[in-house]
Amino acid sequence: MGGYGLWWTGTVLGFLVLVPGILGWGKEGHYAICKIAEGFLNEDALAAVKELLPEFAEGDLAAVCSWPDEIRFHYRWSSALHYVDTPDFLCNYNDSRDCHDSAGHKGRCVTAAIYNYTMQLLTYQDSISESKYNLTEALLFLSHFIGDIHQPLHVGFTGDEGGNTIIVRWYRRKTNLHHVWDNMIIESAVKTIYSKDLELMIEAIQRNITDAWYNDNRSWQICANNQSTVCPNEYASESIHLACKFAYRNATPGSTLDDDYFVSRLPVVEKRLAQSGVRLAATLNRIFSSETKFAEA
Ligand SMILES: *[C@@H]1O[C@H](CO)[C@@H](O)[C@H](O)[C@H]1NC(C)=O
Ligand SMILES: *[C@@H]1O[C@H](CO)[C@@H](O)[C@H](O)[C@H]1NC(C)=O
Ligand SMILES: *[C@@H]1O[C@H](CO)[C@@H](O)[C@H](O)[C@H]1NC(C)=O
Ligand SMILES: *[C@@H]1O[C@H](CO)[C@@H](O)[C@H](O)[C@H]1NC(C)=O
Ligand SMILES: *[C@@H]1O[C@H](CO)[C@@H](O)[C@H](O)[C@H]1NC(C)=O
Ligand SMILES: *[C@@H]1O[C@H](CO)[C@@H](O)[C@H](O)[C@H]1NC(C)=O
Ligand SMILES: [Zn+2]
Repeated sequence: MGGYGLWWTGTVLGFLVLVPGILGWGKEGHYAICKIAEGFLNEDALAAVKELLPEFAEGDLAAVCSWPDEIRFHYRWSSALHYVDTPDFLCNYNDSRDCHDSAGHKGRCVTAAIYNYTMQLLTYQDSISESKYNLTEALLFLSHFIGDIHQPLHVGFTGDEGGNTIIVRWYRRKTNLHHVWDNMIIESAVKTIYSKDLELMIEAIQRNITDAWYNDNRSWQICANNQSTVCPNEYASESIHLACKFAYRNATPGSTLDDDYFVSRLPVVEKRLAQSGVRLAATLNRIFSSETKFAEA
């Protein structure tokens, strides 16, 4: 992959994993999602994104989609915004029941954060100088959180912290279930299927979006309540269902996950990367559209 080598990526991920708490998709996952999204931005959205990107992005949204993970220990208040937990063994999402942080503060979770930063970005057209928000940060947070909410274990059970306390082996390596879904499945796929090149994995997913998933691609873009700019509650419902059906299944504490688990779960991961990329692009296209202006997030 361009820009940074695998060794560097591994070091950064290794460091992040040692820090307790729940992280998003790994760096590769977020990079892939934002790369996919960039390919589907319309002219208005491209122009706005270019204007809002920080200097260190060098014009590439994908390069900075992990930024919220890098600053989350500095911006402590943002830590709870990367995920949402449901009551143990309930495989559904209920926003008023579930959206709170571990201290019980309501509205501190990933679905609320997605509404928050969408609403902030909708003030972009009011002219930047008048905005009371930092829209650069809003763009990076929104792009990151739309990714996170599609990682099934970012909408996992409270008791095991979305799989963080479920210790398993990934092949021979000791890790936890959350990390398997953030990083290991993607890393193993890149290594064994895509000749160690993340770009090849991204291209394979992009081909599917315009081919095998052509019809899905269009339904992914719209919210069931199609007046909405974004619909995080729907994405959260999908994630907890996938967590129950695929992530938690056959992954009890102490188990070893290898070929069977890898082969059956990789397609789920690839589809979630595709969905979040398509939805991020559709959301940014709606936000920055110069024609239609939605009143509310
Ligand atoms: C969601 O949770 C709230 C608060 O616990 C409850 O009042 C409401 O009935 C639940 N909604 C659904 C659809 O289950
Ligand atoms: C909304 O965004 C502001 C500015 O970044 C932040 O202070 C606040 O905690 C955010 N709230 C949520 C729920 O995302
Ligand atoms: C907005 O946030 C970015 C990233 O944290 C920072 O570099 C920039 O200085 C901020 N802009 C303003 C006007 O505060
Ligand atoms: C492409 O789509 C097919 C059919 O849904 C699926 O089996 C395959 O895993 C997908 N590949 C990628 C790279 O997403
Ligand atoms: C969906 O597929 C069509 C047809 O290839 C393509 O034009 C479009 O850009 C794809 N993605 C999105 C997000 O619309
Ligand atoms: C979505 O849009 C279609 C066509 O524009 C309309 O018929 C339908 O009622 C809308 N559904 C919702 C839930 O708003
Ligand atoms: Zn995250």
